[in-house]
Amino acid sequence: MSVVVTGATGHLGRLVLDSLLDHGIVPSDITALGRRTDTLESYATAGVRVATADYDDPATFDGVFDGADAVLLISSSAIGQRVGHHSTVLNAAKAQGAGRIVYTSAFPGLVVSPEHEATETIIKEQGLPFTILRNAWYIENYSGLVEQARTSGGIIGAAGDGRVAGATRADLAQAAATVLTTSGHEGATYGLTGDTAFTYSELAQVIGDLVGREVTYTDMPTDDYAKALESMGLDSGTAGFLAAADQNIRDGLMAEVTSDLSDLLGRPTQSLKQGLSA
Ligand SMILES: NC(=O)c1ccc[n+]([C@@H]2O[C@H](COP(=O)([O-])OP(=O)(O)OC[C@H]3O[C@@H](n4cnc5c(N)ncnc54)[C@H](OP(=O)(O)O)[C@@H]3O)[C@@H](O)[C@H]2O)c1
Repeated sequence: MSVVVTGATGHLGRLVLDSLLDHGIVPSDITALGRRTDTLESYATAGVRVATADYDDPATFDGVFDGADAVLLISSSAIGQRVGHHSTVLNAAKAQGAGRIVYTSAFPGLVVSPEHEATETIIKEQGLPFTILRNAWYIENYSGLVEQARTSGGIIGAAGDGRVAGATRADLAQAAATVLTTSGHEGATYGLTGDTAFTYSELAQVIGDLVGREVTYTDMPTDDYAKALESMGLDSGTAGFLAAADQNIRDGLMAEVTSDLSDLLGRPTQSLKQGLSA
């Protein structure tokens, strides 16, 4: 079977490529798409087919989906431009006769959700067999806090007592590879979460265990948190986005735990501590 992966040069995409190879897919049956040629070249050396493709330049997708049994559309990282980016991929995949689409989406109701919901609608209207992978918030989104807490002894946020059913990219990538390489997933929408949801106070405890000192969580109102992030050097757009995501957590929108991810993996999901230690 042949598989094409977009966003293959990113954190998740590279893990998906590794997992496809672990699943025994012949390297030449995998096509990796992205912009970063140095990353693509490292996979080309391993026998993976690679192509430089830019969502802003539809012509770069000419021919890349010819004969593809399955396409993994890893959502674009360009917030605000995602629907156009995804449409470029979906139009090219359909025109070139791709067999099915697997899309990395998000849970509904979040600050990031509107572009994902619009993409899911396009996929369903387009009519190709599809599988939607609604990926949880990555545990690795908190990796940067470990070093910060090592020196400061604290983390800040605006999530209150809200819980995050986070999952590691490695688990989400392995699940994507399973969906791409096995049958029975057509029309499915999987909500892929970790097996356990944690609060930011629990996150602080786990980080404390990792750095060997007490780490406390200080909760702030959403606007104050956004200002605090800006004072730490983030641009206002990124600060506002992260504060809105914490507000989603406070509102309980990332708390739901499902068994979809562990079912696809055939084992428990990686823990918060494993994700932060990687
Ligand atoms: N669930 C979560 O917590 C969470 C958090 C962050 C992001 N996400 C979403 O999940 C996706 C995958 O996560 P990730 O960690 O792998 O993100 P990432 O490391 O930022 O990777 C993003 C990928 O998108 C590609 N890309 C961006 N703009 C492009 C363009 N104009 N044309 C072609 N390729 C383009 C990048 O290609 P190059 O590297 O070649 O430029 C890269 O391969 C993200 O893109 C985002 O939609 C989810």
